[in-house]
Amino acid sequence: MPAGLLFSIKGSPFNRQLKTESQYTMKSVHTAVREQFSQHADYYAQSSAHAKGDTLDVILNFAEPKGTEQTLDVATGTGFTAFALAPKVADVVATDLTPEMVAKASELAKAQAIENVTFTVAAAESLPIATASLDLVTCRLAPHHFQDVPKFLSEVHRVLRTDGLFCLVDSVSPESEKLIVWQNRVETLRDNSHVYGYPPSEWDAMITDAGFSLERTTDVRNAQMSFLWWVRPEKNSAEVVQEIRDAFAELSPDEARTHYTVRPSGDDFYFSWPMYAVKARRK
Ligand SMILES: C[S@@+](CC[C@H](N)C(=O)[O-])C[C@H]1O[C@@H](n2cnc3c(N)ncnc32)[C@H](O)[C@@H]1O
Repeated sequence: MPAGLLFSIKGSPFNRQLKTESQYTMKSVHTAVREQFSQHADYYAQSSAHAKGDTLDVILNFAEPKGTEQTLDVATGTGFTAFALAPKVADVVATDLTPEMVAKASELAKAQAIENVTFTVAAAESLPIATASLDLVTCRLAPHHFQDVPKFLSEVHRVLRTDGLFCLVDSVSPESEKLIVWQNRVETLRDNSHVYGYPPSEWDAMITDAGFSLERTTDVRNAQMSFLWWVRPEKNSAEVVQEIRDAFAELSPDEARTHYTVRPSGDDFYFSWPMYAVKARRK
């Protein structure tokens, strides 16, 4: 790769160079995200992996809602986190970059007669919300798509009142330089709208730097997925599928088992990504 085209990931203290600047100037991350998610609103709305599970439970546990919270759910997708919070808080504003996801979420809210959630198309890096107006901000399974995580965190800090809560869960890379590069390469090969999965230590540092105190953190796992399902053979070429399969084969047996719970199953294998959840209070 020509040195002049290297692009560093914003917020990464290691200045890792994973995507080329030319990729970003030709097509911005936001455009790539919209292209990706505009085609998948129906799929997400029916995805049991997104509708429930430990990554949703941990947000609800960390949020400890009392029923009075003015809440924002950032990158709501088809609204699963917003809908789970709605009966437990005063109201929820649910935002997402992709109009098709917001439209699907609104349709589902109407069908379920959920009245205290409103939806807005907005980027996580620029929230159309008044300063110091909220008690709780949540964000689930989305920041690895964000163009600028420090900007997102500064927006969350801005919209929360003093002592407001920020609850996050997202896929993360293990605390290993080799696996950070490996995992982000594999994720980006499969989905061009993947930007960066930080390791937990970098999340802790970025959240603290943004003006929050960390109250609780925990490792979480999503359900194991079939490789052949996850790799989207209907969308990715046979060459790309093989490249990703070869990348998994590069892992040592210990890395595959410990970090990715890889379990062979005939021509297929099952695996999961590591996830990390944070409960942080705005200072
Ligand atoms: C996996 S889905 C969301 C899952 C959802 N939070 C849930 O709990 O089910 C990821 C979402 O992030 C949104 N997204 C990606 N980048 C974004 C950004 N910069 N700002 C706002 N939304 C973004 C996508 O449009 C997509 O709907």
